[in-house]
Amino acid sequence: MSNTVKVHDRNFQVLIEKNDLFRQIKKLGKEISTYYGKKGEVPMVISVLHGAVIYASDLVRAIDIPIEMDFVRLKSYSGMSSTGKVLMTQHWEKEVSGREVLIVEDIIDSGASISFLKQELLKAGASNVKISTLLFKPDAFEFDYKIDWVGFSISNKFVLGFGLDYDGLGRNLPEIYQLCSE
Ligand code: IMP
Ligand code: MG
Repeated sequence: MSNTVKVHDRNFQVLIEKNDLFRQIKKLGKEISTYYGKKGEVPMVISVLHGAVIYASDLVRAIDIPIEMDFVRLKSYSGMSSTGKVLMTQHWEKEVSGREVLIVEDIIDSGASISFLKQELLKAGASNVKISTLLFKPDAFEFDYKIDWVGFSISNKFVLGFGLDYDGLGRNLPEIYQLCSE
């Protein structure tokens, strides 16, 4: 398979290979299982549509304790940049009051989306909200709390694949690709 792809008008090169993704997701699944297993709680795993579905589907299969699943849809990005305004265009459905909640996200950039969602869940009475993201851009993160389970910390360059898109395309690529410097 080629190491570069063209999506819309831009070229991207492989940043994280399939095997590395698989290995890291397995490891996070184990850590998450141990954490909630010790607490004896069934967490509500809330994935952020659409980007996190690929990561979430692999992650939940690497978790070996009972969980429940739900979804939200957030919108903040347009093209290659964040609009800074976060909207929940699809709400979670299950009761979160008094529950342990694990948010599963594809990537945390400024942190605006995830911080907004965490606040909404706490307002709805969740007893504890943890976060797992496949990718994290520490240099872009504008908040000062720790993300609980991070797959890979990456530079500030735009990435796609494994659920992440560039204006709708690229989600089905099985690796993470990074924008080539031109
Ligand atoms: P934040 O609110 O700035 O943290 O942005 C988070 C959301 O923006 C993610 O859930 C993605 O949907 C999108 N996003 C941020 N960086 C990238 C990227 O490099 N590629 C694709 N989508 C991204
Ligand atoms: Mg997203």
